[in-house]
Amino acid sequence: MEDRLVSAESQPLEDAIESGIRPLSFSQYIGQEKVKRNLEVYIQAAKMREESLDHVLLHGPPGLGKTTLSAIIASEMGVQMRTTSGPAIERPGDLAAILTALEPGDVLFIDEIHRLNRTVEEVLYPAMEDFCLDIVIGQGPTARSVRLDLPPFTLVGATTRAGMMSAPLRDRFGVMERLEYYNEQELADIIRRTADIFATDLEDGAAEELSRRARGTPRIANRLLKRVRDFAQVEGEGVITYDLAAAALERLQVDRLGLDHIDDKLLRGMIEKFRGGPVGLDTIAATIGEESDTIEDLYEPYLLQIGFLQRTPRGRVVTHLCYEHFQLEVPDK
Ligand SMILES: Nc1ncnc2c1ncn2[C@@H]1O[C@H](COP(=O)(O)OP(=O)(O)O)[C@@H](O)[C@H]1O
Ligand SMILES: [Mg+2]
Repeated sequence: MEDRLVSAESQPLEDAIESGIRPLSFSQYIGQEKVKRNLEVYIQAAKMREESLDHVLLHGPPGLGKTTLSAIIASEMGVQMRTTSGPAIERPGDLAAILTALEPGDVLFIDEIHRLNRTVEEVLYPAMEDFCLDIVIGQGPTARSVRLDLPPFTLVGATTRAGMMSAPLRDRFGVMERLEYYNEQELADIIRRTADIFATDLEDGAAEELSRRARGTPRIANRLLKRVRDFAQVEGEGVITYDLAAAALERLQVDRLGLDHIDDKLLRGMIEKFRGGPVGLDTIAATIGEESDTIEDLYEPYLLQIGFLQRTPRGRVVTHLCYEHFQLEVPDK
């Protein structure tokens, strides 16, 4: 898949930049007030009881701050965070090695936890519930199972697809928090904070202009800022004015709602070929030459969020709002 400027997923080489601008504490973490308040209470309570924090599941679209939040949880608990991901843990032994290396109280962060395979998941159940591992030693008739104690730890799982997780795994999380898209005010605050770290001047209105096009997603907001800063350096005086931001975003072909050519292709395809639907996901996928999963995971969520698409039992439907945005007439049906 090509790198979209407005993709919510992290892109190659972006990790290094992100690590420099990641909020390190709840006070630096902007928005998600309900989630923050809840976690602060749970953390304080766990500390008062001198226990490890309950296992936490963070779910929501990419780029909203799940990895960041996990690191903040570890830091507020005063423990280390070990990071891995569902697809990286191939065999039960891989997970056992990670678990036995944990220090008491540590946070184990498993990204994309919905992609763990079942045999690995089964090792996780007793680990989460009783802090122990059941290991089979030997083979055939002499094989026996040995129980190994683990230090107490906190599993923080992150997923964009909570619905794809197995029920037994989901049920073992004491805390489940859903991250929501950010509003423009919060995104503007995030952009100003990042500009501060970059030591870049932002004029009034510039952060707001960027925030409108960031699709509710901090990762995109920061990426747009970075690009626009390049324009300011080369073509401006280094200062990001409102005009410069608006002109740069035009040239980057991100429209005033943060839509790009891919959204355009998807929505116009549905309008032109299917009179706006209802049309099935697989049909859309075949028409625009993309995988259904890609559409469902990456393209659709924001379009559903801004009310341009609706899911109905008979398929996807383009809404009036979308026709208005493209200045097209709604067909009679
Ligand atoms: N609440 C927030 N306040 C400020 N910056 C944020 C916030 N949430 C995310 N970010 C920024 O967005 C980027 C992506 O966040 P990340 O935690 O990697 O998202 P996810 O893991 O959900 O995909 C990070 O580099 C971070 O700087
Ligand atoms: Mg992440």
